[in-house]
Amino acid sequence: MPFHRRKGWEIAESRVTAEAVFMDRRQALALGAGLAGGLLAPGVAMAASKVQTDALHPYARNGAYEAGREITRESVSSEYNNFYEYGTTKSVAAAARQLVTRPWLLTIDGMVEQPRQIGIDDLIMAMPREERIYRFRCVEAWSMVVPWSGFPLRALLDMAKPLGGARYVRFETFHDPKMAPGQRAPFYPWPYIEAVTIEEAAHDLAFMVTGAYGKPLANQFGAPLRLALPWKYGFKSIKSIVRMTLTDKRPKGLWEAIQPAEYGFWANVNPQVAHPRWSQASENVLGTNERIPTQMFNGYGEQVAGIYTGLTGEKLWM
Ligand code: MTE
Repeated sequence: MPFHRRKGWEIAESRVTAEAVFMDRRQALALGAGLAGGLLAPGVAMAASKVQTDALHPYARNGAYEAGREITRESVSSEYNNFYEYGTTKSVAAAARQLVTRPWLLTIDGMVEQPRQIGIDDLIMAMPREERIYRFRCVEAWSMVVPWSGFPLRALLDMAKPLGGARYVRFETFHDPKMAPGQRAPFYPWPYIEAVTIEEAAHDLAFMVTGAYGKPLANQFGAPLRLALPWKYGFKSIKSIVRMTLTDKRPKGLWEAIQPAEYGFWANVNPQVAHPRWSQASENVLGTNERIPTQMFNGYGEQVAGIYTGLTGEKLWM
């Protein structure tokens, strides 16, 4: 007989406010102690602080965002990840358990009215939360469909209040080689960086993710805060974000920095433009034996193509 067993992260909604207040106090103390870099060392009260916004899941699904394909089984998508901080294979879930996601501060700085730091739980509480089903297309020609929970990036931009001259939004992942063995590999210019234009960031489809499959985000998906840009190749969807910076200079992402002949700033999905080493015409659907044709802008062209009109001379597809 089916029955509901309360999971570790589920608490009564009535407890949420009290724990947010508690977390605020912890973060104020930690900041006062001068811990730098946006990511704070784990503390003794971690278990208590962990649950406060986890209990808000599942978020209400926004039916305007449907994928038109079956959702990829969680057992598949959560065991096939790219998260180089935890290794260069797809099997990083076990290693990613080392990632400590509370306390977690997001720094908002650069060309904004008021630079600030905000704790992840306060941020989640302040944002308009919803679930969206998105297609996801990796540059390596595999794809999946995931129900992400989160909030529009535009809502975060509104909170940040960009100054008039800001043109790009740059995101940065944590940098802590003690917590992420992959960051001890000197070949990569850590931390992971990605960026979009302010127009792309303000687009309806640009989504900040704090959960998946109706639950808090599993570490290997990039907990506690990642980006989802479904019309772009997956490497643009940066994980475990600690900093968002508004700037007037085009930032260089980690992959563009390493391999500019293969990976660029725009990385919009286009089946007609091959990667230098493989075709992008079709994709392998994770969890199936299917190989299906890849769609322009991953099928989101109607919504996003307008952003790119007039951008002649830009390499929009790499
Ligand atoms: N973000 C960070 N910080 N580190 C990474 O290695 N990999 C990128 C992107 N974001 C990556 C990252 C790549 S190449 C892809 S395809 C997606 O995350 C994979 O997301 P998934 O593991 O949820 O499928």
